Amino acid sequence: MLSGKHVVLGVTGGIAAYKACEVVSRLRKMHAEVDVIMTENATRLVQPLTFETLSNRPVCVDTFSRVESWDVKHISLAQKADLMVVAPATANIMAKLAHGIADDMLSTTLLATKAPILLAPAMNTGMWTAEATQQNLQTLLNRGIKTVGPGNGFLACGDTGSGRMSEPAEIAEAIQAILCPKRDLEGMKVLITAGPTVERIDPVRYLTNDSSGKMGYAIAEAAQKRGADVTLVSGPVHIPVPAGVNVVPVTSTLSLYDCMMELCEKQDIIIQAAAPADYRVEHIAEQKIKKQSGEPFTLTLVENPDIAKAVGQRKQQGQILVGFAAETQNVLTNAQSKLAKKNLDLIVANDVTAEGAGFGVDTNIVTFVSKEGSTHLPKMSKREVADRILDKALALKN
Ligand code: PMT
Repeated sequence: MLSGKHVVLGVTGGIAAYKACEVVSRLRKMHAEVDVIMTENATRLVQPLTFETLSNRPVCVDTFSRVESWDVKHISLAQKADLMVVAPATANIMAKLAHGIADDMLSTTLLATKAPILLAPAMNTGMWTAEATQQNLQTLLNRGIKTVGPGNGFLACGDTGSGRMSEPAEIAEAIQAILCPKRDLEGMKVLITAGPTVERIDPVRYLTNDSSGKMGYAIAEAAQKRGADVTLVSGPVHIPVPAGVNVVPVTSTLSLYDCMMELCEKQDIIIQAAAPADYRVEHIAEQKIKKQSGEPFTLTLVENPDIAKAVGQRKQQGQILVGFAAETQNVLTNAQSKLAKKNLDLIVANDVTAEGAGFGVDTNIVTFVSKEGSTHLPKMSKREVADRILDKALALKN
């Protein structure tokens, strides 16, 4: 329930504007105070009176219209908001927000607010996948702006594809998750692995991979917010550690293995998002290896232990084990085989060649593979994926 919370809902000129009425109605039923700001274009699709009736408050449209009170409206709403939501969020408002354009009541308030912002994008598939929109989305995600959806399906323009606004129930759920985060992991110990491992060749060279740690760190942050006692076993990365999370730094796959063997049996949930190197150099040179001009150079690699498999062999009663599968082909088949081989409850499979998925980026496109079957999720921020993984792990646990 959201009593005492103030949500400012921006409605822009997308056909899904009519669904925003239900968002207001749901928020009111959850006891939130709601102010609605509409763009001029939105008022062509839905009458402000509808939102006024549902929110029981005047609707703001024009920055310069006369208002019944003397506060500067866009500033006062920006300050009063506990959360600003834009639903539907058109490509236009995303572009304005990404570039700091403030030319109407909504864009001005969005620029002025210090409150968290949640966008529910809704647009034609072509507009959603356009490079400009995707770049704007990336900019907004980098600033910590959150998104819900869009989903896939039949669009008002007749196309079928991504760009459909999330359903009002989903948007209300996302709002609740931000304003009143769940504490459903309280009392649980959750261990997450993240980042790459580094395999030394000599004092100045090493083998590694492209993992930035973003996926694993997002899971650690989400689990901590939901009340878990979180241990993050991390390879070398360059991102900040989420507040309240205990970090155990590791470098090589062998050091990750040792750490996991020590900690794994004490955990309720283990999520292995790290990308450990499968091979290490047989003999690490003590001194810098000298170049031998004209000669081919051979490094002998030996296999590293499969840590997830070793953890699976030590699986405790009631423990939930989640692994990832980073694939470039046959994603589902490979994920299913890893699920069985490593004795996991869930595999989060990602095609690391897909745009907006896998290494380095802030979004991911994943498929959950468990013994029950598989579920494909649309592209979403790694932070959103993190919550979905935790929801699934909890459902499997219960
Ligand atoms: O860090 P980011 O830049 O955000 O990128 C995220 C990611 C792409 C690294 C992440 O989404 C991901 O896919 N992580 C798993 C990478 C990987 O090693 O996948 P794999 O399919 O090779 O391994 C399968 C599972 O076994 C993984 O859970 C892995 O942690 C584990 N493993 C792998 C090798 C090994 N020697 N021991 C292991 O335990």
